[in-house]
Amino acid sequence: MSCPFVIAVASEKGGVGKTTIATNLAVYLKALREDLPVTIASFDNHFSVDQMFALGTRPVNSIADLLEGSAPAELIAMGQYGVQFIASSRRLIAPPHPPAWLHRILDKADLDGLLILDTRPILDWFTEAALLAADLVLVPVKDRAALVNAAALREILVEVEQADRIWLVPSLVDPRARLNSEVRVHEFLDYAARERDYQVLDFYISKSPKVEGLASGFSSSIRPVLTHARNTAVHGQLKQLAEFVLARFDIEAGSRRASHLGGAHVSETLPGGYHRLVLECPVCGRHSASDGGHFYFDMRSRRRGFLHSACFVRLVDVLCPEGADRPVDLIALTIDGPGLVGPEYRLTAHLCDAAGELLDSEEIEVREGQQLEGWLAMMTGRHLDAAYRELLLINHEPSPMDQHLGADAARSFARKRRLISRELRLAGLF
Ligand SMILES: Nc1ncnc2c1ncn2[C@@H]1O[C@H](COP(=O)(O)OP(=O)(O)OP(=O)(O)O)[C@@H](O)[C@H]1O
Ligand SMILES: [Mg+2]
Repeated sequence: MSCPFVIAVASEKGGVGKTTIATNLAVYLKALREDLPVTIASFDNHFSVDQMFALGTRPVNSIADLLEGSAPAELIAMGQYGVQFIASSRRLIAPPHPPAWLHRILDKADLDGLLILDTRPILDWFTEAALLAADLVLVPVKDRAALVNAAALREILVEVEQADRIWLVPSLVDPRARLNSEVRVHEFLDYAARERDYQVLDFYISKSPKVEGLASGFSSSIRPVLTHARNTAVHGQLKQLAEFVLARFDIEAGSRRASHLGGAHVSETLPGGYHRLVLECPVCGRHSASDGGHFYFDMRSRRRGFLHSACFVRLVDVLCPEGADRPVDLIALTIDGPGLVGPEYRLTAHLCDAAGELLDSEEIEVREGQQLEGWLAMMTGRHLDAAYRELLLINHEPSPMDQHLGADAARSFARKRRLISRELRLAGLF
């Protein structure tokens, strides 16, 4: 059984380009990876998905059936441009379950490839369900109000430790619009978003009258940018967006494949701090979880576990043999994937004190015959060649396992994590 990689397109702000991005993204993804099933569904009642993808007669089933418990795979209709879709519904009734229910349903859905969920401009049951089910959340922002609104979406994901799945997509950008003679509006938005610690795409979707025209007028169908507005800047930007999504998908697929890498046992279902706990020490491969030790956490995979003290010393010997002249609380390892800064991946060890302040940063040279790559693969659940922009945190001091369990421990480590990633970002190191 397979489960889809879910992409939610969400914003509480109306008219920011959610539906335009969601529907066109489906077309571009399919165009770039013909063999990958791409499915789209919308919680909105505007029928834009149906207007772009429906072929012939209206399917009997719709998204309303999904909410009543039908299996997702049974609701899918083949649509135009090779994209599969679940028909929209005029009136959706939220099921009597918490929004996390959708995640469980999609997780055991026998559905391959990518699933895009378009949402309403309101943070209701449906949007929250889409956020919680998503592996990647794209939030189009076109102005300051949309940026401010994004905080509510992030809050939902912070609660479940998934805030790093959110990416802001500057949308409906007029590249010439200026705040003043010095600053363009989209540059200001980008700056303001990064200030608030958001991940922002480093490209944007331009405002284009031609693109606007594709969804207006009297025609009952909506045409994709790929087929009807290829000569606009938006064409290249949507292609870039689809490439970004595929890169995230490949990373996730790699980490799903490798979740038993090196024979490591990962607990996926246990609650609280046990979630995605790797039971073996990544260095020696012997059981470490119940003894505690040096706690580590990989941001992308959410894998966590413990290194035996002697094994930690072996790791430190490779990562930061010099140490720092002040007490180190945490080692933050950044991994820049191949292609980001050069043809190969780049590893840098950052030493931080208890206040999250950066004490030292040292690039690591990975030498032939070193076991470091294998240890890191065990911690992150993927090979370094599949890295994109990764952050792995390792506690410098050992601690018992129970210190890392429960909601309070998770929140306190999440605070530490945010502090450090912010510090690294401000220093231009992550
Ligand atoms: N890149 C673009 N250039 C010009 N117009 C655009 C662009 N993207 C979207 N639009 C137009 O902006 C309007 C809002 O877009 P869209 O419906 O995609 O936003 P939305 O966030 O889904 O809205 P809602 O919150 O109502 O669901 C539409 O008229 C659409 O055609
Ligand atoms: Mg919409």
